[in-house]
Amino acid sequence: MSTTALDPSTIDLGDHALWTEDPPYELFAQLRREAPVHFSPNRRYPDEGGFWSLTRAADVHAATRDFQTFSSERRGIFLVDDFGAPLDVQRLQMISMDPPRHDRLKQLVGRAFTPKRIAAHEDHTREIVRTMLDRLAGRDRFDLVKDLGRQVPARVIGSLLGTPESDDHKLLHWTNVATAFEDPQIRTQWDDTMGEIHDVVTYINAVREQRVEDPGNDLLTALINAEVGGDKLDDLEIATFFVLLLAAGNDSTRATYCATMLALIKDPEQRQLLIDDRSLIPNAVEEGLRCFPAFGFMGRAATRDVELHGQTIREGDRVLLWYIASNRDPELFDDPERFDVTREGLDRHQAFGAGGRHFCLGAALARLELRIWIEETLDRFPDLVLDGQPERIQALFLNQHVSIPVRVG
Ligand code: HEM
Repeated sequence: MSTTALDPSTIDLGDHALWTEDPPYELFAQLRREAPVHFSPNRRYPDEGGFWSLTRAADVHAATRDFQTFSSERRGIFLVDDFGAPLDVQRLQMISMDPPRHDRLKQLVGRAFTPKRIAAHEDHTREIVRTMLDRLAGRDRFDLVKDLGRQVPARVIGSLLGTPESDDHKLLHWTNVATAFEDPQIRTQWDDTMGEIHDVVTYINAVREQRVEDPGNDLLTALINAEVGGDKLDDLEIATFFVLLLAAGNDSTRATYCATMLALIKDPEQRQLLIDDRSLIPNAVEEGLRCFPAFGFMGRAATRDVELHGQTIREGDRVLLWYIASNRDPELFDDPERFDVTREGLDRHQAFGAGGRHFCLGAALARLELRIWIEETLDRFPDLVLDGQPERIQALFLNQHVSIPVRVG
């Protein structure tokens, strides 16, 4: 849908009609140029008030680093305060905390979630990817999201945490509860969000008790034992961090893998470049992250009145930092709408956040997983073709597909 002629003052980015097949990239380009601080009434959630959108990379970068003005804690990171779990519950997760609470969590979690632990998971990640690809052997048609995209990250996170594969379907369900509430169809899969959250806490408490008796070499055991100056994570903190890892780890890697593979399927020349030269795959991963950030935005709330580009953001207003737009800012990238696996300077993309204290804790794991997953897929299925219309989730926060039918070429 061409949207370039719209008057910015009439645009409500929360209108799902703008988000059917793809994010409204043309509209974001217009806002970046003409209305870099833009207000949407968010009519879909009339009780929540509207939101401001920042779309320029420099503004997203500056706001990300200024937590004193743009708080993650005050109104959380979504486009509503209450998605069935109220702010008090959301604030138990580090992603919705400001200092000093965030400092404490970051230090403790950092003791367990180390680069060494992630790097040590490389061989196992490859094994998981190969097993999931093996399960597709003999099929000439499958769905990239439903038959592969969901399974791999769920098992990678599950194996890191030390939960059994037979529980992966539960972890995927809870991932939806935590993040996919905007999609009317997915939202029919559960009635009571807080009831589901209690179920996760009960589940993780049982696993935790088992680990206390029988420690393993997994992330959960490391979290239980993590200590800074005698301070440790309590049971609720471990459980809520677990939910954050599920949501952050599942949705994100799946979304980026599927969108990047779709771009490669649509552009066989780009795909051939990777098949001919494997050393380009890490760069293709970064280009996938840039073009298709798994989270459309992260939310903040203004802690004081702020003047920016001629607009006044009032204290308490919600402000969305749109990675979907900032990653396509021509100030950062030439020809930004083009997917180009040979593009240079990709270390400036903002898919993992624009630096700052909330910068993605799982970036190294995501990069490792995506590289291996794309390598192995291209080995096994070098010539996939599209076999129907891809279907996008109905959401602004999650930028992902729910279906990509493919055929072995
Ligand atoms: C393609 C993959 C991924 C993308 C695009 C992504 C993106 C992001 C973004 C945008 C943020 C918030 C930045 C901010 O608010 O400034 C974030 C935070 C976070 N991510 Fe990721 N993420 C990915 C994978 C993962 C994985 C695999 C894990 C863990 C298993 C993970 C764990 C986290 C955690 C714990 C935070 C909160 C950090 C904090 O609040 O200090 N992410 N991620």
